[in-house]
Formats: sequence, structure tokens, C-alpha cells
Amino acid sequence: MAKKYGFGIVGAGMIGAYHAEAVRQLPNAELKAVCDTAPGAAEKFGEKCGCRGYGSLDEFLSRDDIDVITVATPSGTHAEIAIAAAKHGKHCIAEKPLDITLERIDAVIEAHEKAGTKLGGIFNYRYMPTAKLFKQAVEQGRFGKLTFGLAYGPWWRDQAYYDKGGWRGTWQIDGGGALMNQGIHTIDLLQWLMGPVKRVTAFCKCLAHERIEVEDTATATVEFENGALGTVACTTSMWPGHFRMVEVSGTNGTAAMADQEFFFWQFRDESPVDQEIREKYLKFPAVSVGASNPSAGLTADGHRENFADFLKAVDEGRRPPIDGIEARKAVQIILAIYESARTGRTVELK
Ligand SMILES: NC(=O)c1ccc[n+]([C@@H]2O[C@H](COP(=O)([O-])OP(=O)(O)OC[C@H]3O[C@@H](n4cnc5c(N)ncnc54)[C@H](O)[C@@H]3O)[C@@H](O)[C@H]2O)c1
Repeated sequence: MAKKYGFGIVGAGMIGAYHAEAVRQLPNAELKAVCDTAPGAAEKFGEKCGCRGYGSLDEFLSRDDIDVITVATPSGTHAEIAIAAAKHGKHCIAEKPLDITLERIDAVIEAHEKAGTKLGGIFNYRYMPTAKLFKQAVEQGRFGKLTFGLAYGPWWRDQAYYDKGGWRGTWQIDGGGALMNQGIHTIDLLQWLMGPVKRVTAFCKCLAHERIEVEDTATATVEFENGALGTVACTTSMWPGHFRMVEVSGTNGTAAMADQEFFFWQFRDESPVDQEIREKYLKFPAVSVGASNPSAGLTADGHRENFADFLKAVDEGRRPPIDGIEARKAVQIILAIYESARTGRTVELK
């Protein structure tokens, strides 16, 4: 019989609830405990989910029945928690971004390598059915020579969103704004589909908000290692916001996704499956998902698939598909964009 994994969640906030639901839906996982440093938060969350709540990370990590912890705390706190998990011999799945600097991410990767525990990142949008079809088409070489890729996140967040969270909109804990917090999913999909980024030239501005340190509007020109060019444009300054888009084009095909659907899917080497894909997914969404509301349209499906993929890797004793190195890639691109915007220079990724 397949092993059943005991789960613990750190962070009883907005996304922590989706982690709990994802665990609940997995036959080989069971939620054992939750940890949150805000007074009463873990207990309240634990009552709802039928598990024990802890205010102390050490006590929580000392439980023998927790095999895997998921990290759902503010972005710049992930490293300490993930490293503590490794020290306690726990596998760890951390929210995006894995953390907000490459030094901190590398320390997490090293801690898990040393402990022999598995480390996974969360990029739940890679698990959308359309994203999987998209990746498959790239792997089959159906686009021909890749020439252009687009990652577009034209979103809106109101001032109250930044004002209420405390950590949101800060360099120290959010690690950035429209790119590091919201756009990272789209940027991850772009690099996953188009391949590694070689260099970037970018502009970042704060145009629609007050009392935040970070960008709410960002554009970047990207050159990929394979020679293709691309554009990244992500905002939280465009009211009301609309579809998150990813487009990949080449000499033999173009596919473009808006939120969870395709709005373009055409290849020179048409196959019968292409018509099926168009019939099933080619409906331009009438209303955007999550463009101005952080949790609108979010389901636990992506997280469930992400966690399931991780557990399969643990079962089979191999690296999870989204491991620390994979989760680091989008952060590296975003940090290069920030550096380019700050210095006015093109930044090469090493
Ligand atoms: N994958 C996705 O689709 C998705 C969506 C939203 C947020 N996120 C990510 O999830 C993370 C959390 O975002 P959120 O919107 O849920 O934030 P939130 O502010 O709603 O919740 C964070 C929780 O963590 C707790 N916390 C803070 N520091 C802690 C610590 N050191 N130890 C234990 N608990 C601590 C807070 O008390 C709070 O309850 C962020 O990194 C964010 O980028 C991912």
C-alpha cells in the first residue's frame, strides 16, 4: 500500500487554506498540524481543519507524525522555515517565491541537500490542463524555431490590499511587487516553455499606489538562451485588470493562453487533436480570473497536483519536478529585471 504522508502547514493565512484543501483532497496525505506566529491564528485554523495549532515552529516541527511541511507564510520568511524543516528531517514544499534572494534560496537548497530531505517549490499554474498541453507542444518541437514569448500580467490591486497586509509592498518581506508577488507565475510559465533567459533590459515604476516601496508596473525585454526574444509586462496598476497571458511563437506555430484557456492554437503540422483542443479550450474568458482580487477564481486543484507530484517523487526517491533549482529560476529572472531597472543597464543572467 502507498505510504500516507503526514502534513503540517506553516502559515494560516489566505493561501494556507488552499494548502489544507489540497491536502484534504489527496488520498496519500493527511493534515496533522498547523503553525502560525500570529496569536490565536493557528488554533482557529486548526479547529476548522480538525488538527492541532501551534504558535511555536520548534514544537510543531518536533512532531514525529509530520513528514512534509508546506510553507505559506510571507515570501521573505520562507528560507528560515524551510531550513528549520530540513534540520528536523522534514520534507518541505514552499510557496512561490521560494524566497526573495538567490542567497537565501541557495541556503535552503543546501540545507535540504545536506539533510537528505526533499525540497519542492509551488507553481500551481504549471498544473493547469492548458499549461500541460502547452508544454507538451514545446517538447514535441511543434513551434519550430522559437522566436518570441510573452508573459503578460495586467492586474489591479487596490491601495487597501497593500495597506492591510503589513508585509505586502515591502522589499524586505514581499521582495518586490507586481513581478515578485503576482507576475512570478506568468514569468515562470514563460521560462518553463521558452527555456532559460540570457539577459534582460527593464523598466519598473510605482504609478498607482502610495506607501509601497516596490513596483506596481514593470516591463522588460528578454533574450532567451536559444536566441528568441520576449516581453514581460506585469502590473498591479491597471484597473480593473484582465487576463494573464502567455504566448509562445515560432516559425511553425503559435499558442497563446489567457488565464486558464487558450485564445490561439495553430501549427503548420495540424493534427486532429488540435481541433479537439480548440473546441475544448478556445473560449476567450468572458471575465478575468483574479485580475483584481487575489483569491477570486483560485481553486486548490493546482496545489493538489503540485503536492501529488512532489509525493510521487518522494515515493520514488527522486527529485520533485519543481525542486529548489526549478523554483529558483523565475526569482533569478525577476531579480535581474529589478537590477536592470535600477541601473539602466542590460543584465546578464549567470
Ligand atoms: N501559489 C499561489 O497561487 C499563491 C497565492 C497567494 C499567495 N501565495 C504566496 O503565499 C505566501 C503567503 O501569502 P498569503 O496571501 O497567504 O499571506 P497572508 O498574509 O494571508 O498569510 C500569511 C500567514 O503567515 C503567518 N506568518 C507570518 N510569519 C510567520 C512565521 N515566521 N511563522 C509562522 N507563521 C507566520 C501570518 O500570521 C499569516 O497568518 C506568499 O509567499 C505568497 O506569495 C501564493
